[in-house]
Amino acid sequence: MLAIIGGTGLTKLANLEITHRQVIRTPYGEPSGALTFGNICGHSVIFLARHGYGHTIPPHEVNYRANIWALHSQKVKNVISVAAVGGIHADLVPGVIVVPDQIIDYTYGRKNTYFEGNGKPVTHMDFTEPYCDYMRSRCKDGILAAGEKFVDGGVYASVQGPRLETKAEIDRLERDGATMVGMTGMPEAALAKEIGLSYATIGVVANYAAGRGSSAHRISYEEIDTVLKASMGRVRNILEHLVDL
Ligand code: HPA
Repeated sequence: MLAIIGGTGLTKLANLEITHRQVIRTPYGEPSGALTFGNICGHSVIFLARHGYGHTIPPHEVNYRANIWALHSQKVKNVISVAAVGGIHADLVPGVIVVPDQIIDYTYGRKNTYFEGNGKPVTHMDFTEPYCDYMRSRCKDGILAAGEKFVDGGVYASVQGPRLETKAEIDRLERDGATMVGMTGMPEAALAKEIGLSYATIGVVANYAAGRGSSAHRISYEEIDTVLKASMGRVRNILEHLVDL
């Protein structure tokens, strides 16, 4: 079973024929919303809007543990996360689609593991490769089958938010090797791996990161909204191709 976690700009999938919705209780509290069960082109899919269906949950308040646990409880094996990112690298301009292959985690204060409490043994999961190779390939094949281009690989800097970054912070992320920045990549990817899900991200560049693009540039919500509205139709098309693979 494939699950899709939709980020900003993707709170519903117009091409999903919904069969039912289910509220899942988890030991970690409430997921961002009920899971939406349905079909895309005849293939079963579960959809979850990361920020809630009304986009009311900010990145630092998403219950990542509950979301991933809820999907796992429904026998999901494969997860595609769709995430809006800011472009740091010159190739990552607004509208570009990217399939990152690495993560740097700058978040703090988030519940970021299942391996705690209740006398659980101390566990140090290997996280050398944060994304699943198979799911990354499937994403890339789906993107190509949909007739779209993409940037293959890149380092996703997961920041705490909810504010955007300073120019100096983006410069630092770039020196660290990050090529894109977002607020939801972690702990989502690590939790998926801890629980045994095959997980990859399709990033959509929503804006130039702070201090990138033209020098007078300020990041506006309107700009992000416009880019994402134009891009998410392409993502839906990609998902239609991807479910078939
Ligand atoms: N910074 C952090 N997160 C983001 C951005 C950004 O510029 N754009 C979309 N998510």
